[in-house]
Amino acid sequence: MFAVFSILALAFSTFAGTPVPRCVESIAQISASAKNFNLSFPAEGTSWGSGSEGVQESFNSASGLLALGEPTVPVSGTYGIHMRFCEPSSAVERRKDTPQILVHGVSYDDEYWDIGFKPDTYSYVRFAAAQGYATLNIARLGNGKSDRPDPLKIVQSPFEVAVLRSIIATARTGRIPGADQEFGTIVYVGHSFGSMILNGIVASEPTLVDAAIFTGYAHNSIDTSPVSVQPASENDPARFGDLPPEYLTTTNTSTRATDLYGSPGTFDPAALAWDEAHKDTATLGELLTVGFTITAAPKFEGDVLTIIGDQDFPFCPEAGCANVHKEGKFYPKARSVEAAVIPSTGHSLNYHLSAPQFYRTIQAWLTRHDF
Ligand SMILES: *[C@@H]1O[C@H](CO)[C@@H](O)[C@H](O)[C@H]1NC(C)=O
Ligand SMILES: *[C@@H]1O[C@H](CO)[C@@H](O)[C@H](O)[C@H]1NC(C)=O
Repeated sequence: MFAVFSILALAFSTFAGTPVPRCVESIAQISASAKNFNLSFPAEGTSWGSGSEGVQESFNSASGLLALGEPTVPVSGTYGIHMRFCEPSSAVERRKDTPQILVHGVSYDDEYWDIGFKPDTYSYVRFAAAQGYATLNIARLGNGKSDRPDPLKIVQSPFEVAVLRSIIATARTGRIPGADQEFGTIVYVGHSFGSMILNGIVASEPTLVDAAIFTGYAHNSIDTSPVSVQPASENDPARFGDLPPEYLTTTNTSTRATDLYGSPGTFDPAALAWDEAHKDTATLGELLTVGFTITAAPKFEGDVLTIIGDQDFPFCPEAGCANVHKEGKFYPKARSVEAAVIPSTGHSLNYHLSAPQFYRTIQAWLTRHDF
């Protein structure tokens, strides 16, 4: 009975919706080294604070004004990174060696680009697979099933750039579990902090990525302090109880909606509820070092696309998001630089009713630039 049902379900999903791609999950051991910032500074008898208030307080007083100086502290290590490699569900010859590397933002994990809620609408992985792309969807260090090392010393922006560089180099040489081929062309799609890391990559190793797609990000100086966070271990002991207090998450459904979504009506409340139930963490080390990669990439010669929701206020300070059309100055050697604004959409684009339009906008750009 059950077998018959699942065969029917499979047939249904094949004919009525976007096909489900074949995927391989793995925990890959990734080695990286970088220089991180010295965050041991509230030195004079203070610490980063403990408990909910202490962490939010030190976060508020530190972010925004953080003049960290140069990263000087060498860090290196090998960490388990959760990866999901999905094959294309439709064969397109010229995309055979062009995977898309998908990298989520803070308080998310690999769920962000492959949302389990109404995936025909909200899973970018399924969408991309149907256009002929393989995807490598990762949970960044400190999130999901990836390792969660020291949230102040290790999980900072510089080291995360190094980890991603190592993952992309691994993908290029065909050593990603599930992908038994080399990849010549790399499309990187980032969201928010995942886009900032992309900025750090194209600035520091400009030949690693061919198409740089920045979503939920532009070169603004951002003040993250109004964002409501608390230690993840207090917020959801069942999921995060073992984590040190510098692993943070958003406080509740209503602050998450305020901080990451557009106005009511731009999203399905059931999508928000799913997001709240599947949310992940951010480290204090990341939040204090977000500014590190908001920089120019003077040697990057690939193609650049910036996509933003028109209600993404931190990254849309100018009327009509006019600022995103001036991103070209940060990529002076790029083959092309374009921007698109998605209407009725907040920061976390994938969770909005406009998600299909967002995906089609990315695809139209990829097609136009021969990816
Ligand atoms: C970080 O800065 C503090 C205070 O200036 C200093 O005592 C400490 O040695 C530094 N740590 C490293 C690893 O550089
Ligand atoms: C959500 O958290 C904020 C503080 O971050 C608090 O002021 C508010 O009362 C909370 N709302 C609910 C519904 O729990």
